[in-house]
Amino acid sequence: MRRRSFLAAAAGASAGALVHTRFGPETLRALEAAGRQAGSRGPEELARDEGYWGEIQNAFSVSRSIINLNNGGVCPSPRMVTEAFVRYTWQQEEAPVYTMWQILQPQKEHVRQRLAGMFGCDAEEVALVRNTSEAMEILLLGLDLQSGDEVLTTTQDYGRMLTTLRQRVRREGIELKFIQIPTPAETDEEIVEGFRGAITDRTRIILMSHQINLTGQILPVKAVCDMARERGVEVMVDGAHSFAQFDFRHEDIGCDYFGTSLHKWLLAPKGTGMLFVKKEKIPQIWPLMPAPERMDDDIRKFEEIGTHPAANFVACGEAITFHDTVGAKRKEARLRYLKDTWAERLSSLPGAELHTSLNPKMSCAIGNINLTSVDPAAFRDYLWDRHHIIVVSILHDEFQGLRITPNLYTTMEELDYFCNVFEDVARNGLPKSA
Ligand SMILES: Cc1ncc(COP(=O)(O)O)c(C=O)c1O
Repeated sequence: MRRRSFLAAAAGASAGALVHTRFGPETLRALEAAGRQAGSRGPEELARDEGYWGEIQNAFSVSRSIINLNNGGVCPSPRMVTEAFVRYTWQQEEAPVYTMWQILQPQKEHVRQRLAGMFGCDAEEVALVRNTSEAMEILLLGLDLQSGDEVLTTTQDYGRMLTTLRQRVRREGIELKFIQIPTPAETDEEIVEGFRGAITDRTRIILMSHQINLTGQILPVKAVCDMARERGVEVMVDGAHSFAQFDFRHEDIGCDYFGTSLHKWLLAPKGTGMLFVKKEKIPQIWPLMPAPERMDDDIRKFEEIGTHPAANFVACGEAITFHDTVGAKRKEARLRYLKDTWAERLSSLPGAELHTSLNPKMSCAIGNINLTSVDPAAFRDYLWDRHHIIVVSILHDEFQGLRITPNLYTTMEELDYFCNVFEDVARNGLPKSA
């Protein structure tokens, strides 16, 4: 429906100075044609059809002289999203007090509704924020806690969130407790048990990632939320990587609080994120920047941050349309297939340790692999300096390795090139001068 109405609006150019007619619809038409050709084949079968995915690779303006396997950091937008963002930016700059505040700003409401549709919640539970960091800091700093109250999290949660909580430890005397997640974990039970066993009478909040950024491990959010709710513990979910990478809706995770970055897997403009707070929980979370009392139960109190751009948020509409046109299940299957392709090939090499489960419930696009004989940071530098391959080296107290994260635009040739280089290093080590 949305896609059809988008195309119809685009076709009637006169109807909308706001709707660009040249590039976005062309991309969508190509994707739709590829989708029609794909016919009724299921996502897993289609994941292997390089002809179909070639259309999607072409929808990006990424540099092909770089092999970017770090889509865990931030992701490039498809061309149609960048074009929309640039177009809205020009419009924003025409007379910002009018075109930004009165024309573009109200369109954010439609984006709010579409995000709520994707997530499966009420639009009045969705705040548009700048990124996961902002979303999670609103949550982690916004709930009143007393000295001695405990927050439970994992040793693999995101550094900035732990820094946020450590500030509360220093400032208010709360206590921070950690559990370890096995690397990799193969069952939901071992993770739920880890949290259950660490809850005490003083535990008020659990902070957990939906997908751990270091390894790509997917955690059983629903089971943890159900267990914690019975014990009166709030669960705040860092969904930086899960949203729009793999297909799920709010009912599948059942949490009351969730933060994500739209500039990661939704492929939206940079500086866009989403905060979900369940309706009845909104009054108890203080916004980071104060809002008037009359907004206490209004999700928009979290958006009271002073003057900020609207163009990036409005262009999230195009990112959602791109996502819907590819199809969430197809996207998930392709991303998992890309990960499986390199992981299955490389994990049997001598000295290779895969820190990511290949159980489809436990991982999707992101994986972490180590070569015991090679320093990950030196390996990362070698890949970049010699081959223009971007990966991240992860040095954690519990494990180390390279985080490899392809995306929809990654070609099989690029993955193959990376695997060849990796195999060469596994067999021969890094060149002496590297
Ligand atoms: C698990 C996790 N949480 C939060 C963030 C922060 O995301 P952002 O920088 O978009 O706020 C990241 C970034 O990679 C992350 O991996």
